[in-house]
Amino acid sequence: MDEISIDMDNRKKIGLLTSGGDAPGMNAAIRAVVRAAVNSNVSVIGIRHGYDGLLKADIVELGAKNVSEIMQLGGTILKTARSADMMASEGQEKAANICKILALDALFVIGGDGSLTGGLALSRLGVNIIGIPGTIDLDLDCSDYTIGFDTAVNTGTEAMNKIRDTSSSHERVSVVQVMGRNCGYIALWCGATAGAEEMLLPENGALDIDAVIRTIIQNRSKGKNHNLIVVAEGVGSAIDIAKAIEDATGIESRATILGYLQRGGAPSAVDRMHASAMGYEAVMAYLRGERNRVVVYKRGEYMTVDLEEGLAVKRPFNHRLYQMIKMLSV
Ligand code: F6P
Repeated sequence: MDEISIDMDNRKKIGLLTSGGDAPGMNAAIRAVVRAAVNSNVSVIGIRHGYDGLLKADIVELGAKNVSEIMQLGGTILKTARSADMMASEGQEKAANICKILALDALFVIGGDGSLTGGLALSRLGVNIIGIPGTIDLDLDCSDYTIGFDTAVNTGTEAMNKIRDTSSSHERVSVVQVMGRNCGYIALWCGATAGAEEMLLPENGALDIDAVIRTIIQNRSKGKNHNLIVVAEGVGSAIDIAKAIEDATGIESRATILGYLQRGGAPSAVDRMHASAMGYEAVMAYLRGERNRVVVYKRGEYMTVDLEEGLAVKRPFNHRLYQMIKMLSV
């Protein structure tokens, strides 16, 4: 276990980690937490490689200077991981014990659903948790925004603009697969902003390939000879869907899987802003004495909600937006 150089000082200490899939804007959130904390006389221990790093006490002291020039960087300077050990009670108890040994007054977790669920498990073992929503998927339903979503959508939209050019020249069907796990928000937003003819979303139920084929044929009869179909990865494979369309219609169909492109790159201004505000609000909540809370963005304001209650929220999907995009596409 590393030695912590600030053990001799009597400031309160918080731990900070990023966990799960990285998201553009995580560095801006790290910067905000560190600067807000140190400027409030709280010291920050960075934990590398998420919960896996916590289990190994893979730590680094973070001062205001250590987070200079990172806001504009994609990825996370703290590294991240998906920790299998943290899924089991043995790992959770070990992690809670390490927080105690490190004398962390609270552990700040930047991550999505799974990462904050790990935080909830630690909170039940006496670790004070403050959560910050960081995931491109926008699948933390208690918050209207999760850090990384805007950049991922911008990346997807830019890629689809390019795909549309070649799809139009060749009068093909282009099926583009985006990330989002079981959630269709990236697909929905990319569909809207790239003017897709169809979006295949987990929230709309199982894939109905016949309906997709009917849409393409109808669009052709209206003079639309190229079609952009955005498929959320939770629905199925773009490769299989493109093949099924070509087999049924004879129209050349091509698949593109955007994959990890959407997780990288410099965060957008929107992501930098949300990440800065969420990181700052997380520290302010901690200073007010709040514990086991997650920062959320709701109806244009930042606030905190109880971690357990927040994780239980299920937001209804915005089907109206889906209908709107479909109507505007042809
Ligand atoms: O949660 C973010 C995300 O990028 C999902 O959209 C995707 O399904 C998953 O992570 C991929 O995870 P991994 O990096 O472990 O392959």
